[in-house]
Amino acid sequence: MPEFKHKDIIALRDLSKEEIELLISTAENMREVNSRDIKKVPTLRGKTIINLFYEASTRTRTSFEIAGKRLSADTVNITPSSSSATKGETLADTALNLLAMKPDIIVMRHAVSGSHYFLSKKVSCSIINAGDGAHEHPSQGLLDMLTMKDKFGRLDGLKVAIVGDITHSRVARSDIQGLTKMGSSVYLAGPPTMMPPGAERLGNVTVCASMKEAIQDADVVMMLRIQQERQGKTLMPNTREYSRYFGLNPQNIKLAKPGALIMHPGPINRGVEMSSYVVDGDQSHILKQVENGVAVRMAMLYHVCGGEME
Ligand code: CP
Repeated sequence: MPEFKHKDIIALRDLSKEEIELLISTAENMREVNSRDIKKVPTLRGKTIINLFYEASTRTRTSFEIAGKRLSADTVNITPSSSSATKGETLADTALNLLAMKPDIIVMRHAVSGSHYFLSKKVSCSIINAGDGAHEHPSQGLLDMLTMKDKFGRLDGLKVAIVGDITHSRVARSDIQGLTKMGSSVYLAGPPTMMPPGAERLGNVTVCASMKEAIQDADVVMMLRIQQERQGKTLMPNTREYSRYFGLNPQNIKLAKPGALIMHPGPINRGVEMSSYVVDGDQSHILKQVENGVAVRMAMLYHVCGGEME
């Protein structure tokens, strides 16, 4: 069995294909715990996890907390709006003060790309990236791959279309890193104002001129949210126009393969990137992604702690 030798998980770019396979396979095993009446095992008893989220989150923060609790770790949540960050304390000082309380893992979300690499040089405990700016969101990338593997039994050879605000999407970057290592073909589409210059260098991807080209015969269609909080200025004429050219609806969904998997990392802007018909339709696996998020985060916590069962 391959070993997981990393202290931190900051980006799927840093992991090998074998390490990604190990995390996915551990998550598959963790699902057994989540299906029990008593959803708790003693694996991380005595470990302390701090969830430090400088940006809003529903899915990631809750599922990291549940994941830690299901493995019997002690979990603490810090919200910067009610912490001393509001008094001007720097990230490094906050981290060093938290480290003095001897946590084993800090799970952090931060608006600045690369902030986790900075932090990992300052502290000795493990760092897990729960999303940094427009850089990476590795737990989302892993849960997306697990959801695709559940449906197809493999990732190799899949055509995956990623559509929307590619420039500002850390989900897109983690999906590209993970999926291309696992042998999927990734096709990107979005308005030119939301496609980064040199997008073809994000990985082994095909940048498409239209949404139609990206989703034609796709096995998976991954829709992205428009990240208005990161755009700084309006990058589209209006949402109706955006939806017309880059929204997924009952008509254009037929371009993908029959039964194609429809995914979205959430939160969704219903009626903008996807119609409600598609969000709530049979092909949508959006809530399955959320369910898989708990198992994936259990696997990440387990492996950065050395991967030893009590
Ligand atoms: N997908 C995702 O990161 O969702 P949250 O922002 O709610 O955590």
